[in-house]
Amino acid sequence: MTQVDVLLGLQWGDEGKGKIVDVLSPQYDLIARFQGGPNAGHTLEFDGKKFVLNTIPSGIFNEKTMNLIGNGVVIDPIILKRELDNLKAAGHDPVAKGKLVIARKAHLILPTHQLLDAANEQKMGKDKIGSTLKGIGPTYMDKTGRNGLRVGDTTLPDFKDRYNKLVEKHKDMLSHYNFEYDLTEKEAAFFEAIEFLKSIPHVDSEHYVNGFLKEGKTVLAEGAQGTLLDVDFGSYPFVTSSNTTTAGACTGLGIAPNRIGHVYGIFKAYCTRVGGGPFPTELDNEIGENLRQVGHEFGATTGRARRCGWIDLPALKYAIMLNGVTELIMMKADVLDGFDTIYACTHYEHNGETIDYMPYDIISVKPTPVLKAIEGWKTDVTKVNKVAEIPSKLTDYIAFLEKELEVPVKYLSVGPDRVQTLELN
Ligand code: GDP
Ligand code: IMO
Ligand code: MG
Repeated sequence: MTQVDVLLGLQWGDEGKGKIVDVLSPQYDLIARFQGGPNAGHTLEFDGKKFVLNTIPSGIFNEKTMNLIGNGVVIDPIILKRELDNLKAAGHDPVAKGKLVIARKAHLILPTHQLLDAANEQKMGKDKIGSTLKGIGPTYMDKTGRNGLRVGDTTLPDFKDRYNKLVEKHKDMLSHYNFEYDLTEKEAAFFEAIEFLKSIPHVDSEHYVNGFLKEGKTVLAEGAQGTLLDVDFGSYPFVTSSNTTTAGACTGLGIAPNRIGHVYGIFKAYCTRVGGGPFPTELDNEIGENLRQVGHEFGATTGRARRCGWIDLPALKYAIMLNGVTELIMMKADVLDGFDTIYACTHYEHNGETIDYMPYDIISVKPTPVLKAIEGWKTDVTKVNKVAEIPSKLTDYIAFLEKELEVPVKYLSVGPDRVQTLELN
């Protein structure tokens, strides 16, 4: 039997997962998204074209790869339909080509889940999470609260009754907020999209994925968000509502822990976060603004400006431990091309102590990063396509990270395009 490799983010999301899944997809027979929903925005660039995927796995541009939206994902049928309509208009139709299947056990995001998300954030005011407002939290709440509707339910004769029952409950909840809404248009779009959803093959992801493994085929599980947004281990409550870690691939696809193979942990050469919550190495200054402009750090899903800061090694070590990372992938090295000096946070000063791990409370007592200065490479690396051409100071930076993190860096990304990727060892 083969094993499932996993690729996931080690920071607060937007590390470049979409690009690398696309790059690696020729090596795999199946790409499977295992958690999250359309809060994700995974960007791919090739042949001068750019695509942003929210729900669809990033393997769809590879001719031979199958793609699965796993049971751990929450699906907004309206957004999924829009994604597929846009792809079709651009000449890519994974449904017609039979390259996309959906887990029956994946939960559905209803229009009222989005309303509840918005009402809740509005009520929290300045303490809000900074949610993408896609209805993620309320949908996972209904899943764990055992009220949710699943993809497989759409083919049952009483689907509409089940929908109405849940919506009544949501309306009751909404009546406790001072929140105005009109559901008419959204509801019509929802039911139209449900009909479309029925035209995509539904599968039992647990049997589907294990079937691939039994036949000796290769599978890559694609994470969404990042480890520091994990509902258990992230910067709670400023997190998303799913397990973004390797363990999430087991529950989100139906595979046993001993079926996990390589775990690719992906991170930026610096760090970003979008939405609220603590960010120890944040640079709320000119340097942060420079990173934002050079790195085009604006959300792929919401367009919001991403907060930027230096790389955070205690946080990365924590993420590597939680995920059992076997290989690292460093993204966006080119964004640091212009810096004379770059910095890496090696420790935190926290409650009068110097520590090298992430403490329980980083909200009421903000850790002060201890920074190590590193000489910049001051070279345009965007056209580097051979390992021998990598500037020596960038090689030194990678060697420093490998020593600190105790995991090899296998791939280096020097630009958004597919071809701007180097395999290191
Ligand atoms: P994801 O959510 O992890 O898939 O990442 P996003 O797509 O949200 O954000 C990553 C952004 O960085 C996208 O705009 C990518 O096109 C871009 N990107 C990916 N790798 C690189 C790189 O090496 N250099 C630069 N400059 N941009 C990159
Ligand atoms: P990808 O897969 C970056 C953040 C939101 C907010 C918090 C909760 O593209 O890396 P939610 O909508 O889940 O209730 O929002 O999580 N967030 C992300 N940040 N990348 C993402 O996905 C994110 N998905 C959610 O900004 O702070
Ligand atoms: Mg993203």
